[in-house]
Amino acid sequence: MEVIIRPDENAAAMLVAQMVAKEIRANPSIVLGLATGRTMEAVYAVLVQMHEKEGLDFSLCRTFNLDEYVGLGPTDSGSYRYYMNDHLFDHVNIDPRNTHLPDATSPDLDLECERYEALIARNGGIDLQLLGVGKAGHIGFNEPLSALRSRTRVKALTPTTREQNATMFGGPDKVPRRAITMGVGTILECRKCILMATGKNKAEIIAKSVEGPITSMISATALQLHRKCTVVVDEDAASKLAATEYYRWIFENEPEWQAYQ
Ligand code: GLP
Repeated sequence: MEVIIRPDENAAAMLVAQMVAKEIRANPSIVLGLATGRTMEAVYAVLVQMHEKEGLDFSLCRTFNLDEYVGLGPTDSGSYRYYMNDHLFDHVNIDPRNTHLPDATSPDLDLECERYEALIARNGGIDLQLLGVGKAGHIGFNEPLSALRSRTRVKALTPTTREQNATMFGGPDKVPRRAITMGVGTILECRKCILMATGKNKAEIIAKSVEGPITSMISATALQLHRKCTVVVDEDAASKLAATEYYRWIFENEPEWQAYQ
């Protein structure tokens, strides 16, 4: 795991977008794993700008989102399909047929989860996975006690998560109770991943996720097992980390990061 600390949310989003753009340019038919949530909005805004101003080409990219609320279809403004169209897909030259989210309106949700896993495998697996983190430490919708080897499945959402995501629905009671999510095991199979978090309210969970013990109570801690995971945070989200001096030294001195200075 590597931790990169940027001064503020904009700088963190810019760095993540630059890292994604570099991977797309190196491998135009890349398989991207995508995340939703407020944190990612800033990243998608920069990627849209890069497409418009620098011609960043998404035409051959394939994407798989982490999760979707059970019962919500593409036209529902609370759905993650709607979010992705709104924040990214409608504004870049990606082929909609190459953009995938679990179909959480399927009459057979277990079968849909199997289909989604098989589709990821048929596309050769995920090259680069973007991740946000919930306040209680979930990645995707892997709520507390998600098995570290779990696969795509239906998961019941905790009251904390429903509260956190309530603004999209006009109140926690209106947030769906279940979601389809890639499992922790599914996520750990990606070749590279970037976890991004910003703001003071993520400081505690970032410290636990990065420097705490691995536990299925906090699925983000499982990323410590990943071979190539970069955690990008702003100063606020980094404020409870212990080894910040070391993390800063890495960004300022290691050759991999020179291009981003
Ligand atoms: C939702 C998503 C997660 C995301 C989290 C963080 O719960 N399912 O994938 O990481 O929100 O959200 P935010 O960026 O809004 O804090």
